[in-house]
Amino acid sequence: MQPFNEGMIRFINASPTPFHAVAWMAETLESRGFHRLEEDSKWNLEEGKGYYVTRNDSSLIAFTYTSSLDKGYVIVGAHTDSPHLRLKPNPLTTSAGVKRLGVEPYGGVLLNPWFDRDLGLAGRIVYLEGNVRKEKVITIDSPIAFIPSLAIHLDREANSSRSVNAQSDIVPIIATGDVDLEAFLLSQLEEDTANLTLLAHELSFYDLQKGSFVGVHNEFITSARLDNLLSCYVGVQAIVESSSPMMLACMDHEEVGSDSHVGAGGTFVEETLRRIAGEEFAPLMRRSLMVSCDNAHAQHPNFPGKHESEHAPILNKGVAIKINSNQRYATSSRTMGRFLQCAKALEIPTQTFVTRSDMGCGSTIGPISATRLGVETIDVGVPTLGMHSIRELSGISDAYGLCRILTRLGDFQ
Ligand code: CO
Repeated sequence: MQPFNEGMIRFINASPTPFHAVAWMAETLESRGFHRLEEDSKWNLEEGKGYYVTRNDSSLIAFTYTSSLDKGYVIVGAHTDSPHLRLKPNPLTTSAGVKRLGVEPYGGVLLNPWFDRDLGLAGRIVYLEGNVRKEKVITIDSPIAFIPSLAIHLDREANSSRSVNAQSDIVPIIATGDVDLEAFLLSQLEEDTANLTLLAHELSFYDLQKGSFVGVHNEFITSARLDNLLSCYVGVQAIVESSSPMMLACMDHEEVGSDSHVGAGGTFVEETLRRIAGEEFAPLMRRSLMVSCDNAHAQHPNFPGKHESEHAPILNKGVAIKINSNQRYATSSRTMGRFLQCAKALEIPTQTFVTRSDMGCGSTIGPISATRLGVETIDVGVPTLGMHSIRELSGISDAYGLCRILTRLGDFQ
């Protein structure tokens, strides 16, 4: 379990954006014998081999191929994106003699924790080298930006009533002197920048603090982006270990609704499955099971009343099965039964999560995938505190337990 968790922290540290996460997963899959496929080329799939394919370099699907297809796939779904602050196209402004970079919140960001952090910047830039258009994923892993809090002396109500305006209150500061942002970004390419022209960028601020083990017994993991890179990591470890047919679908844009050409609401998973199965697509979907893995809200010890008391997941007490009668989660009694049969056989604990009836319920790529593919689905997730904060907290044993279940789930047809 310790090497598993250490590997997970290394993966998340190395993945400030979906582009980085997909590159890491691709490299890991290749080191375990998986072959890269290109969507715009013909596929010649060979029995028993593993493959992966990416779209936009921000979503990744991996699968093991078998021509018989009579068992169906266990399809593990997760998402590569996390809420954060995204650099605006024309970000540079000056206020109070200080240069700032304008940002747009991506997804449901918990804004307060972004104050007073050393921030790096990472993502994709597109540029011209002479007349040739190129793109590159860059990582500025030094503290180039900071969003200072307003001192309590200037706002005596700060602890009782301060709110955060997403347009004006969370603009990172970067310098007091002049800044040539284009030259600065192009200098990250490690090339002679003389004949380079910046065309566009897709850059995300991120906290430079690395993931850690926390607690007097080191029972907690704290890190950025546990939602949902934790599940991407679990899925990669499961597919390389499993002896049953498995697919892993790690999708971008979940935090903004999944409706995009790379999101779970798009065509990527269905088109990949149709290329694998051809005419057998519908029978394959009848035999397959989708396991949508996305972190679940653990019961917060300081706010226990926010949970349904009988369905409140506890850290380190097992993965949570998420249930919602209104189909915000796709779990059915049948899919839950299969998952539990496997967990019980392996003696791995599980929990159930149901939102309080007087509160709204979140959702995942589970119901979206079930709708698009017509595949039976279960929603599960590792109990996590502080979700969508710049730093989240999970237990050390739950991700590992989920991985063991996923690795063996194909045996419980
Ligand atoms: Co999530």
